[in-house]
Amino acid sequence: MSEELKEAVVKTYEPSEEVKKNANVQEYDETYKRSITDPVAYWGELANNLNWYQKWDKVLDDSNPPFFKWFTGGKINIVHNAIDRHMGTPIEKKFAFLWEGEPGDRRTLTYGQLNTEVSKMANLIKSMGIVKGDIVTIYMPQIPELVFAMLACAKIGAAHSVVYAGFSSTALRNRIDDAKSKLLITADGGWRRGNIIDLKKIVNVTLDQTPTIENCITVKRTKHGTEMKKGRDHWYHEAIANISDECPTEVTDAEDMLFILYTSGTTGKPKGVKHTHGGYALYTSTVQKMVFDIKDDDIWWCLADPGWITGHSFIVYAPLINGTTTILYEGAPVYPDPDRIWEMVSRYKVTVFYTSPTAVRGFMRFGDDWVNKHDLGSLRLLGSVGEPINPSAWEWYYKVVGKEKSPIMDTWWQTETGGFMISPYPITTLKPGSATRPLFGIDADVVNDNGESTKVGEEGLLVIKQPWPGMARTILGDDERYKSVYWSRFEPQGWYLAGDSARKDKDGYIWIIARIDDVIKVSGYRLGTAEIESALVSHASVVESAVVALPHELKGHAIHSYVILSEEVEKSDELASEIKTHVRTEMGPIAMPETVTFVDSLPKTRSGKIMRRVLKAQAMGEDPGDLSTIED
Ligand code: WTA
Repeated sequence: MSEELKEAVVKTYEPSEEVKKNANVQEYDETYKRSITDPVAYWGELANNLNWYQKWDKVLDDSNPPFFKWFTGGKINIVHNAIDRHMGTPIEKKFAFLWEGEPGDRRTLTYGQLNTEVSKMANLIKSMGIVKGDIVTIYMPQIPELVFAMLACAKIGAAHSVVYAGFSSTALRNRIDDAKSKLLITADGGWRRGNIIDLKKIVNVTLDQTPTIENCITVKRTKHGTEMKKGRDHWYHEAIANISDECPTEVTDAEDMLFILYTSGTTGKPKGVKHTHGGYALYTSTVQKMVFDIKDDDIWWCLADPGWITGHSFIVYAPLINGTTTILYEGAPVYPDPDRIWEMVSRYKVTVFYTSPTAVRGFMRFGDDWVNKHDLGSLRLLGSVGEPINPSAWEWYYKVVGKEKSPIMDTWWQTETGGFMISPYPITTLKPGSATRPLFGIDADVVNDNGESTKVGEEGLLVIKQPWPGMARTILGDDERYKSVYWSRFEPQGWYLAGDSARKDKDGYIWIIARIDDVIKVSGYRLGTAEIESALVSHASVVESAVVALPHELKGHAIHSYVILSEEVEKSDELASEIKTHVRTEMGPIAMPETVTFVDSLPKTRSGKIMRRVLKAQAMGEDPGDLSTIED
C-alpha cells in the first residue's frame, strides 16, 4: 500500500468540546515553538512550581555533553515536594493512596498519614546505617510499604533501586551486587491470581550469595511463615514499633541521585539507569499535569507496577507532587473475575485510567459485557503506554471503556526519559496507533543514518535533539556505556538515540515502528535478548542459544528460543519444557520462552554475532534479506 493510501485510511478522533474546554493545555503550536527555541526559559519558569530550599544558579549546564545537568546549585528534595509542602494545606487531609489488596483488603492513606509512615520508615533505615549516597534495594509486592520504602530512601537522601517482584533470584542478586546495596527491603509475599508469591523464599536464596547486604527488612503481608535469619532479618512491624514518626527531610542537590532503575539493553548486563531529584521532579509532575489534565478532584489510576518506570513516575512521584489521589492495587487485573478493574473504577469513581496495550487486549478478550456491567461514567481520560497500541485495541478501549467520550493519551517514553515524551494533550486530534506529537520542550525527530530528517512516511531512527530535565543522567558506574548506547550514533550533532524506529506522517505525527536493538517488549515489560540467552545457556545441557520476539496476539511480542544442545544430550519434549522452566527460575515468569527449538547451528556473522533477524524471518516465513555477511 502506498503511503498516501495508508494515510487516507487512518481515522482521526477529535476530543469533545467539553474535554478541550477544561484542558490544562489550551494551545500547542506556539508554546511548542517557544519551548524548543528557548528551553531554558521554558523549564526555568515551570520550575517555580516546585518548592526549592535554595534556587538554582543555572537551569541547564551543557558544558560536558552528554552529561547534562539541570538546575545546578539548586537545593531540593523530591519528598519535600511530594509530601512536606502539602502539610498544613487542605491536601494534608486528602487521600494520597487508596490501596486494595488482591484478596479484597483495603487501606487508605491521607497525605498526612503518608508523611507519618514515610518518616517512620526513614528513621528505621537511618538506624541501620543508611546514609546519603547509599543505594537501597527494594523487592516488594504492590503494597503501600513499597511506596513508603521508596519515599523513605529519597527523604534521607539515599537512592532506591526497586527490583520488579516478578524477577527471580539471579536477577535480584545481579542488581543488588551492581548497586552494592547494604539493605534490602522486602515482604514475606504478595498475592497474585489467588496464590501467594513467596518473595522471602527467593530473597533467602539470594541473600546467601550477596556479600554486601547487612540488613533485610521484611514486611508481613501474606503471613504464610518464612525463615528469618537472626541478625540480618527484621520484621518491619517490630522494627518500627518504637520509632519516632518525625524525620527531617535531607536537603539534597538538584543533581543528587534519586534512584537507579535497572533496565534491559543490548548486552546481558542490565543497565542501572540513574535519575536525580530536581529535573525528574519537575519533568514528571509537569507532563502528568499537562497530558492527563490533572485537577484537584481527580481519582487517578495508573495500572502499572511501581517496580517499573511507569510506576515510579506515575504512581509515586508525579501524582504526589501534584497532590493527586491515586489507586494502588496489588494483584492481577482479571482476578477473581474479568471485571475486577471495572468494578474498582466504578466504586472509586476513577477519573483518569492509564494502562498498557497488553492489558487492554487482555480485557478485550473477555468481551464487552464485563465492562458494560459497571458504570464507568466517572472516566474522563484514558491512557496507554509500553508499546504501540494496535488500532483495534485502541478502538475497543475508546468505545467500550471510554464510551467515545474519553480520549486516549498514547504516551511514548522510556525508563531513560523519566516521563512522557511524545503524546497527545487532551486538545490533540487523535490517530489510533500514533503517540502523535512531541510534548513541549521535547525536540523529537525521525532521521536517516546520515542524520537527515526523513521524508513523510519514510522509516528512520527516533532521536531527541535537545536535553530535557527528566533525562537519565548516566548508567550507574558506567559513563562510557551511557555515552556509547545513547549518544554515539549522532555524536557530532549531540542527539539522544532512543532505540526505536519510527516514521512521521504529513501532520508531523510520529508512528513508532519497533526497537532497533535487542530489546524485547513482552506484555509491555522490557527484556533483553542477551539476558534471556544467558539464562538459557546456564542450563547444563545448553551450549548456545538465541532468542527472538515474534508477534503475539495478547502480549504484543512473545519470546521464542533456539538452542544448541551439548553433544551427548538427547532432544526431547521433556527437555524443552525443563529448559523453559529453567529460564523461569533464573529470570522470572515474564521471561519464560513460548517455545524452545533445538537446532544444530545458528546463523552468525563472520565475526560471530548471531543474526536474530534471520531466525525471525524464517519463523515468520519472510524473506531474510541480505545474507552476504552470514557465516554458515
Ligand atoms: C516502547 C516504558 C510505542 C518503546 C515507559 C520504548 C512505546 C520502550 C510506547 C521503553 C508507546 C513505550 N508507543 N512504543 N506509547 N511506550 N514504548 O523503558 O519501544 O519499559 O523505547 O519504558 O517501550 O520501554 P520502558
